[in-house]
Amino acid sequence: MQDNSKFYITTPIYYPSNKFTLGNCYTTVACDAIARFNRMLGRDVFYLTGTDEHGEKIAKIAKENNKTEIEYLDEMIADAKELWKILNISYDDFIRTTEKRHEVVVNMVMKKLYEKGEIYKSTYNDWYCTPCESFWTESQLIDGKCPDCGREVHEEKEEAYFFRLSNYTDKILDLYKNNEDFLLPKSRVHEMVNNFLKDGLKDLCVSRTSVKWGIPVEFDKSHTVYVWVDALTNYISALGYGSNDDKFNKYWPADVHVVGKEIVRFHAIIWPALLMALDLPLPKQILGHGWLLFGGDKLSKSKKNTSKDVLDPRILVSRYSSDAVRLYLLKEVPFGSDGIYTQELFLNSYNANLSNTIGNLVSRTISMIEKYNEGIIPSKKEIIDLDSKYIEDIKSNIKNTFDFMKIYDISSALNEVLNIFNRSNKYIDETTPWILAKENNKGRLDSVLYNLSEVILKGATLLLPFLTEQPKKIFEAFGVLEVKDFKNILDFDILESGIKVKHINALYQRLDIKKENEELWDLNV
Ligand code: ME8
Ligand code: MG
Repeated sequence: MQDNSKFYITTPIYYPSNKFTLGNCYTTVACDAIARFNRMLGRDVFYLTGTDEHGEKIAKIAKENNKTEIEYLDEMIADAKELWKILNISYDDFIRTTEKRHEVVVNMVMKKLYEKGEIYKSTYNDWYCTPCESFWTESQLIDGKCPDCGREVHEEKEEAYFFRLSNYTDKILDLYKNNEDFLLPKSRVHEMVNNFLKDGLKDLCVSRTSVKWGIPVEFDKSHTVYVWVDALTNYISALGYGSNDDKFNKYWPADVHVVGKEIVRFHAIIWPALLMALDLPLPKQILGHGWLLFGGDKLSKSKKNTSKDVLDPRILVSRYSSDAVRLYLLKEVPFGSDGIYTQELFLNSYNANLSNTIGNLVSRTISMIEKYNEGIIPSKKEIIDLDSKYIEDIKSNIKNTFDFMKIYDISSALNEVLNIFNRSNKYIDETTPWILAKENNKGRLDSVLYNLSEVILKGATLLLPFLTEQPKKIFEAFGVLEVKDFKNILDFDILESGIKVKHINALYQRLDIKKENEELWDLNV
């Protein structure tokens, strides 16, 4: 279960147009779990996140706050980084599109496209949706509104540069055809083909003269670079494209760009077309995940969802731990579809998964070892019975976890890990250690306690990419060093003799749901 190849994973760079929501947390936590999992496989991981800081939307919001753009942005980015810190996000780099290292690369890209004849000057005369930072033609509008978000659009007419995206329709179709796993889940491919590729792509406007808050185009300073071209370039600017060849060649192409389904078209059509035009290798995969829904609607900054329990992730983390928030996000958005968030579901999930499934198993096992074997994990020499049916079930949970993570089906992977704990709770019910103790069946009792200890440590090891706090305490409780990789994950007779367990308090204290629910409503104004 080891692999020493490189692994480059990215989140979208979010707009700091408001405080980040649980929705932004979803993608960042999901990428964090994938990054940590791959590090434990032994891979050389580069995990990138960051912020998308140019464009009309940001300029407008800074102004509303009576701040310069940079004053406004610096505050928002400090806040975003604090959020990632409390959620234990292990990113390797955080890129801001207002950084010099990024702006330089954006201009390199524009210049190269211009010199190759991939962009040309013309006049733009269509509609624009500022919250989405998207261009639309009259016929694409639905009832005169943005087809993506349903909000007002406004007419724009100005001189602009265009990228010859129309030349790439067949190339993108071929890309999907020749590389079935390029865009996951597969249902997204049909969306792209039916909504955008079937009728042929249109050239894309890539510069603006009316938007001042952007990167000036070097060869024509009255223009700024269209914010999506600016933003997509982050994936290569962060690697030092054009200046740090070693790093760039080592990590590019990205192994996976993880994005929400509403921005798949930018990543699965525009981005590969731009890279083809630049003669650069394409990312290996795009993962377009579903949304976390609240009351049937996506939690989004720009929709200003004012409903009462759109909860601040900071409140949830400080009251219930980052493990609780991470578990909910990772478990409740099934692969490819949407997930639902409500306060009540969140609290119930805490009790069911953290307190019952994980917490109970650990404390029951530790107290049985204390009670029946003076706090010493029975030595494997005394084991008469490896209970092969139980161990085989656990091995298949482990293998499934790896298989699901390979295709980025995180919720199924996490469910397999939780099943290790569920199966072990059942194993206790099946083997009834308290009866074995009463009957003085020492050999069998030792076997059960040994097997449970070993399996719990496997479970804790596999939990580490998902939950980053309490699983570490399981190693401590069982008196062993924290496992840092998956090397021995399938070996089941490796615990040394004479290990003493430590008494621990409940890993995750059971919540009084009714009380918590009421208190949360009050906190969340
Ligand atoms: O689109 N459920 O930024 P953005 C799941 N700057 N994911 C959600 C979500 C929800 N309810 N709400 C947000 C942009 N997200 C551009 C990206 S990339 C070169 C430029 C996540 O602030 C999800 O990943 O609108 C979604 O795609 C992203 O946040 C949108 O963030
Ligand atoms: Mg958005």
